[in-house]
Amino acid sequence: MPSTSLNAVLVLFILGGSRAVLNTPSNVRLTSINMNLVLRWDSSPESLTGGLLYTTEVKTSVTMYRVGCVNTSTLECDFSSLKFPLSMYGTYTARVHAQQEAESSPWVESNNITMDIDTIIGSPNVSLFSNGATIDVTIEDPVFALSTLRDVYSTATYNITYWKDDQSEKARSISSLQNRVILSKLDLWTKYCVQVQINAGEMTKGNSKLSIPSSTVCESTTTEPEAPWVPALVTFFIMTLTVTLVVIAVVYRKTISHLLCPQDVLPSHLLETQNSLHDWTTKISDQPEEIYKSVRVIADNESTEKQKVVGRGGVFLLQKT
Ligand SMILES: *[C@@H]1O[C@H](CO)[C@@H](O)[C@H](O)[C@H]1NC(C)=O
Ligand SMILES: *[C@@H]1O[C@H](CO)[C@@H](O)[C@H](O)[C@H]1NC(C)=O
Ligand SMILES: *[C@@H]1O[C@H](CO)[C@@H](O)[C@H](O)[C@H]1NC(C)=O
Repeated sequence: MPSTSLNAVLVLFILGGSRAVLNTPSNVRLTSINMNLVLRWDSSPESLTGGLLYTTEVKTSVTMYRVGCVNTSTLECDFSSLKFPLSMYGTYTARVHAQQEAESSPWVESNNITMDIDTIIGSPNVSLFSNGATIDVTIEDPVFALSTLRDVYSTATYNITYWKDDQSEKARSISSLQNRVILSKLDLWTKYCVQVQINAGEMTKGNSKLSIPSSTVCESTTTEPEAPWVPALVTFFIMTLTVTLVVIAVVYRKTISHLLCPQDVLPSHLLETQNSLHDWTTKISDQPEEIYKSVRVIADNESTEKQKVVGRGGVFLLQKT
């Protein structure tokens, strides 16, 4: 019916007055991941000609709209990055409109978001460290734009699911409040895979609020672990022994040097050179011949003849009659 559509255009023209009306942004949605608050929308057809700007506003369930992003050309507005006082239990609504020069679109209002209930909890970061037949699992909470996971969800637990690499159907799960868990009594030399999901607790009746699961990480167990104190003890023992030996050596250095280098040394000429033995034998053979000297002593006209023999070992007096 051409007359009907003409009427519609006419009505729009009258309502808009002299101001042309821009198409509204479509698919306007308020989202929250890890306690942020972001309004998103799809572009209007006019954006193809360029120069289209968007302005957003946000309000809680009990306050008036306050200005958010102004004249932005992007298709989203992150209220949590603005200096905007968000509450972790607050309920928010936002709206957006497009502007192009003097033209402006009507506001489009978004859905509501109640932060703690509706925010999507991102995946935790999981790291594994294997030690013998155990694997240490360390879980890092997703970083919240507002507060921390523990502050918002004080009773949150980690659901840790683990399985042998090729047997995911036999997965086992444990629940922990701690962000560090030791999986023990595992098979040796076996690859295990771990995935963690945060359970933030019951938000609405019967429904637990779960995080996005972590990516799966795998690690192999090894041999029976060496008790960590064994190498420490060995090191300690060796160090103690070394120190003791050094102290003994310092304190008793004189005694030790006496023991090792006796003072009653061989005649130095025997030790001096490499051919000392040769020297020694030469010296022996060089020893002068025993010298005997005959001394004739005539005393008191006696015909007694005394012969003095001088030689090594003393002087002998020989008597001849
Ligand atoms: C935003 O854009 C409109 C239209 O172009 C303009 O009238 C207004 O002054 C701008 N506001 C700011 C804060 O720049
Ligand atoms: C998880 O770990 C990766 C790599 O180490 C890091 O880039 C990322 O920021 C971490 N995420 C969180 C939530 O800690
Ligand atoms: C933990 O996660 C596993 C795998 O997603 C699931 O089968 C199990 O029911 C969960 N346990 C708890 C206590 O949420």
